[in-house]
This record gives sequence, structure tokens and C-alpha cells, in this order.
Amino acid sequence: MSKPQVLVACVVFPEVLDALRGHFEVQAIAEGEVWHQQDFVQRLAGKQGAFITGAHRIDAQALAAAPELKIVANMSVGYNNLDVAAMAAAGVVGTNTPDVLTETTADFGFALLMAAARRMLEAEKFLRAGRWQRWRYDMFAGRDVHGSTLGILGMGRIGQALAQRGAWGFGMEVLYHNRHRLDARTEDLCKARYVGMHELLAESDHLVLVLPYTPQAHHIIGAPELARMKPTATLVNIGRGGLVDEDALAQALADGRLAAAGLDVFEGEPRVNPALLALPNVVLSPHIASATVPTRLAMARLAADNLISFFAGSGALTPVN
Ligand code: DGY
Repeated sequence: MSKPQVLVACVVFPEVLDALRGHFEVQAIAEGEVWHQQDFVQRLAGKQGAFITGAHRIDAQALAAAPELKIVANMSVGYNNLDVAAMAAAGVVGTNTPDVLTETTADFGFALLMAAARRMLEAEKFLRAGRWQRWRYDMFAGRDVHGSTLGILGMGRIGQALAQRGAWGFGMEVLYHNRHRLDARTEDLCKARYVGMHELLAESDHLVLVLPYTPQAHHIIGAPELARMKPTATLVNIGRGGLVDEDALAQALADGRLAAAGLDVFEGEPRVNPALLALPNVVLSPHIASATVPTRLAMARLAADNLISFFAGSGALTPVN
């Protein structure tokens, strides 16, 4: 029996690629190659499976080009790049990589929060530029993290891991807003209090966005929401770029209506809004919140195992539809 044809549209660990090659006829992107969406869609034709990241979309056009497609393994927990309804209608299973990246991503969210609140990158640039001449009481004086109020918008697994870090590690008061309120036991574990959106915005000293991106969540933080936040507050986004109106954010940061931001995700990534690039009080990183070697390996293995299990007839391990 011939092996299923699988498209691997991102560079992956060699051992994971080898494992895929053991089970499938693989067409894989080469190191240094870039497949724009059109290139990706063309290569998807004739494939039964695909291993992708958020860089590629499975939409009506991609599905129409690949009538043999049965499963798409997305190597990320967020799956806003998958048109889940269209995939279900076409009988295509989508999978993501939940759980394996929760703690690593929460660590990075905290790192961004601390770097932004404590002005670490501004200070580092200043030092490297040879501008440090003397100690000054107000040099890069930032905002405290310990004992402050941590707001979390989106209280899934990563939100809860952030809450535990804040509450237990840093003595923070934790407020959260979510589509659904957590059960009392989970709220206790996270020492987190459910509040409405208005209270979350008004009371948070540091607000972290970690909710999934959906059309309803588009620009959930825009000019009106930023205006409700404290001028001393920090905004951190480790969800998806489209959650924030970046022009409004840049304006608020430039006008001193918001103290700082830490952003790992961008609306047009890998392009970054030039207004953000021009600001000193933003810490920027290239979508690396889950990027540690063990976690990326676990994500890649889970995505591969989804394909292997599915084609072996045992079903997908972590389906989203
Ligand atoms: C995720 O897993 O959703 C991360 O953002 C990486 O894409």
C-alpha cells in the first residue's frame, strides 16, 4: 500500500522530519525557502496530510485546491489560521498542540511583563551605547511587579499558569476576565478574582492578553480600552497581534497614556508596525513565547504524532474540530 502524501510547510527538527518520512511520502520545505500562501496552496494539491504553523492558512481556497486532504496538524496551540468550519464541511480534521507549551509560554509572558515594567531593554541599550556615566536615583526607574495587580484577559491554560506565577511567586492580586468564569477550585488555585472588562482595564497594573484570536476579539484592546487603563500600566500581548489596535497602542505609549508594552505577536507579522518600532517603551520579540528547545520539540512531536495516529486509524490526538 502506498504511503499517504504529507506536506511539511515549516522547517522542523530533523528527528521529527525523519519520523514523518518513516510513515509518509513527505514533501518538505527546505531550509531558507519561503512559501507564501499561494506557493503553499499549490503544493497542498494532492496531499492527504499537512504539517503547518500559523504562517499558513487553511481556508476555502486551500481546501478547494486539495480535495484529498484529510488532516492538518498545526504546530501551535492557537489555530486562528484554520477555518475550522470550512474544514469540518470538507471533512478535514485540524489539530493543535495544547498543554505542551503552557508553562513555557507563561514564563515568557512574565519575562515580557518584567522587562517592560522594569525598562530592562531601554537600560540595556543605554549601557551598550556607552552612555552610562553615573548612578542616578531616577535612572530607568520603572514600575513594581511584586505586590501589584495583574490582569489577565483570557483565562485558559496559559492564563492560569500566569496567574499562579503572579499570585504565588510575586504576591500579586490577580484579576481576570474570560468568556466563562472558572470554577471555584481553579479560582482558588490561581488566587484569581473574576471581574468585568471595565474593572479589569481600570484596576490592572499589568494586563496580559492571552485569549484566542477570533473575529469577535479583533482589536479587543483599542483606543477606548487603552483610555480606561492606568497611565502607569503595562500591556503585554502573547496571544495574537490582531487582539490589539497597534496604531492606538503606539499613540497611547507615545502620549504617556500607557507606561509600557511587551509584545510577542503582531497584526501583520513578520512585519512590525513602524510606529511601535520607533518607541523606546515597548519590548518587542518575534513570536517566541513558546520557543525553548524542549517545548518546541514537544510541539513538533505532538503535531507529527497527530498525523501518525490519524493515518494509522487511531484518530487524531488533539483535534480542534
Ligand atoms: C501558539 O502555539 O499558538 C504560539 O503562538 C505559536 O504559534
